[in-house]
Amino acid sequence: MRSFLGRDILSLKEFERNEFFRVFEVAEDLEPIARNRRNSDILKEKTLVTAFYQPSTRTRLAHEAAMIRLGGQVTGFADAKMTRAGDFYQESIKDTVKMLEFYGDVIVMRHFEQGAPHEAARWASVPIINGGDGWGEHPTQILTDLYTVLREKGRIDGLKWLAVGDMRMRTMHSLAYALTQFDCPITFVAPPELSLTDEFKAEIAGYSLDFKEAGHVEEAIADADVILVEPVVQPDYTKSRDEREGDVDLTPANYKITRELLETKAKSDAILLHSLPRMDEIPADVDITRWSRYWQEAFNGVVMRMALLTLVLGARE
Ligand code: CP
Repeated sequence: MRSFLGRDILSLKEFERNEFFRVFEVAEDLEPIARNRRNSDILKEKTLVTAFYQPSTRTRLAHEAAMIRLGGQVTGFADAKMTRAGDFYQESIKDTVKMLEFYGDVIVMRHFEQGAPHEAARWASVPIINGGDGWGEHPTQILTDLYTVLREKGRIDGLKWLAVGDMRMRTMHSLAYALTQFDCPITFVAPPELSLTDEFKAEIAGYSLDFKEAGHVEEAIADADVILVEPVVQPDYTKSRDEREGDVDLTPANYKITRELLETKAKSDAILLHSLPRMDEIPADVDITRWSRYWQEAFNGVVMRMALLTLVLGARE
């Protein structure tokens, strides 16, 4: 297995099966620190830099919380408009990370341009973690989701997935790449105009992913062990910020997971994941049902980032 020390976490396409399990093993080991709300000193001499060029609640704060739980320091910007990248100068990724690498030991970057964290990794002497790049990928979110599945179901192989939402989403790309390493058939359900591109389908077929597409969640939910949902009413992820103007559309029934649908059609022990934020695709009355696991996902998101920071900074091999 390749060492994680100093490694960039840019894409799940680069992850091998045993590397997933190593990350999950370290996460399992560190989990009591987060559960007991007791900070440790595992990374006490290290600093995380957060470079977010797009809004975030979970990804930025989960990385920060993870670093704090490990005894490390955190610095960074959450509003790129208040940096030289966001004003008159439009400072380049290269020039920016050539500064940031001296301010800390690892950088987590979210950017509206697909490939921006990869560009940062070309120039930085410290590891870059991709916190979501345009419509590209969101590797730490899907590592969190797979870790949640492992904890909740006791295994990953042999489970059937249903993924619902906008297939342009970066999470969907990371999910498809990740599942190529497991025995997990998946059905994708998306509006035709937001479905997987032919190019992407050819790519994942080339990796032997067992997938199909359906037009309505009702066609696929009965078989699913894991239901992963994203909105179909979405902002434009290629913008640094997309404000809501007036009313937005409601989610069509084809892409919505209601309590009634779960009660009448889903397996009794299926689990429901959502990376959040949500619109109306999972109504709030689903939260207190046996299927929902998105709050556990939020907790696991901190644990997963603890594992990744520990590994790339070499506190664990
Ligand atoms: N899941 C996720 O990426 O959430 P944020 O946009 O709040 O970081």
